[in-house]
Amino acid sequence: MGWLAWERFRCNTDCKNDPENCISERLFRSMADLLVNEGYASLGYEYINVDDCWLEKERNAFGQLVPDRQRFPRGMKSLSDYVHSKGLKFGIYQDFGNYTCAGYPGILGYLETDANTFADWSVDFVKLDGCYSHPLEMDSGYPEFGYYLNLTGRPMLYACSWPVYQIYAGMQPNFSSIVTHCNMWRNFDDIQDSWASVESIMDYYGNNQDGIVPNAGPGHWNDPDMLIIGNFGLSYEQSKTQMAIWAILAAPLLMSVDLRTIRPEYKAILQNKKIIGVDQDPLGIQGRRIYKHKGIEIWSRPITPLYQNYFSYAVAFVNRRTDGTPSDVAVTLKELGYFSYAVAFVNRRTDGTPSDVAVTLKELGLASPTGYRVEDLYEDVDYGVLSPQTKIK
Ligand code: DGJ
Repeated sequence: MGWLAWERFRCNTDCKNDPENCISERLFRSMADLLVNEGYASLGYEYINVDDCWLEKERNAFGQLVPDRQRFPRGMKSLSDYVHSKGLKFGIYQDFGNYTCAGYPGILGYLETDANTFADWSVDFVKLDGCYSHPLEMDSGYPEFGYYLNLTGRPMLYACSWPVYQIYAGMQPNFSSIVTHCNMWRNFDDIQDSWASVESIMDYYGNNQDGIVPNAGPGHWNDPDMLIIGNFGLSYEQSKTQMAIWAILAAPLLMSVDLRTIRPEYKAILQNKKIIGVDQDPLGIQGRRIYKHKGIEIWSRPITPLYQNYFSYAVAFVNRRTDGTPSDVAVTLKELGYFSYAVAFVNRRTDGTPSDVAVTLKELGLASPTGYRVEDLYEDVDYGVLSPQTKIK
C-alpha cells in the first residue's frame, strides 16, 4: 500500500510554470508528509513511489543513472532518506528496454549497475516497465534483474510489467516464472482517470479470472493498477466500487491522487479500515466475479474469519489406520470450510435508479448450517447472524 505518482501527475516536467505539480523532489516530499499527517500511513499506506520522468537523459561517466538535476537537486538518496525519516518506504521506476516509456534511459546493458544504484539509494520498491524492449527477452531479463536486486542484499519489492507487454505481443506469459521472480505484476492496460477505464479492468480480471486468480498469494500479487479515487474521473459511488473491487482482487493499493486537495469523502473511501482489511487479508486469496447479468455483478473473496469469537472451529484429525506409522494429512482451511467472505454487489446499470437484487447466502456459496454474521462495510451496518436460507436484498 502506498502512493504512486503516475496516473495523477504523469510526465509533468515543467517546474517553471507548474512548480507544485511537476515531477520533482518537492512533490514527493510533500506527499510523504501528507501520507503521515493525514493518517494514511497508520492505515498501512507506506510506499512513496516515483514513476517515469525522474531521470536525466544521459547516464554519468560510470554508466550510472542520474536524477534530473533541476528537479531533484539533492539527488535520490536524499529523497529516500527523507521518506525513510517519516517511517515510510521509497519506490523508484525503471524500464526493461533501451528507454523508459517517456524516453529516458532504460536498463538494457545496465542491469547490475542499476540494481546496485538502487540499493545504494536505499530503495525499497522497484517498478520495472517494459517499453522499448523485446517481449521475448523478458523471460530471461526480468529474472536476471531480480537476481541482481537480490544480490545487493537489500530487500526491494519487485513490480514487473512483464506479462502485460507479452500479452500485448500475443504471447502467453509464463506465470509460474513470473510468480517466482516478481512480487507484483501488471496484466492489463494502464488505468486512466475514467469509469470506462475502471470497468475495462474489472472486465479483464473477471473474464480472465481462471488464469489470473490462482497466481496471487502472499508475496506475489496481480496488479490491476493504481487507485484513481479522489481525482476528476470517478463519481463517489464509482470510487467506492473501485475500492471494493480492488479489495476483492487482493490488489496492491497504490493511490495516485493529489493528497493536498482530495475531498474528505474520497479520502474516507481510501481510509475505510474494514475494506483495507479485506484487501490486506493475510490469507492472500484473490476473489472472483461469481455473477454477471444485465449490469449486475457479484464478486466474492474468501478471507480470514472476522469474528473468531462467533465461529471458531475445533477440528479433530483422527487416524484410524492400522499401518502403525503416522500418516501425512495436508488440508487447506478452505477445505475445512473455515472462511469468512467479502462480497461486493456491483450495479453497472445506467438506468439511474437502484436495482433490486435478492439473493440467499446459500446462492452465494455460503452454506454453513451455523449461519453467517453479515455486515455492510460501507454503511457500517451489522445485520447479525443470518442463516444460509435468508434472502438478503
Ligand atoms: C507504462 C506503465 O504501465 C505506467 O504505469 C507508467 O509507468 C508509464 N508507462 C510511464 O511511462
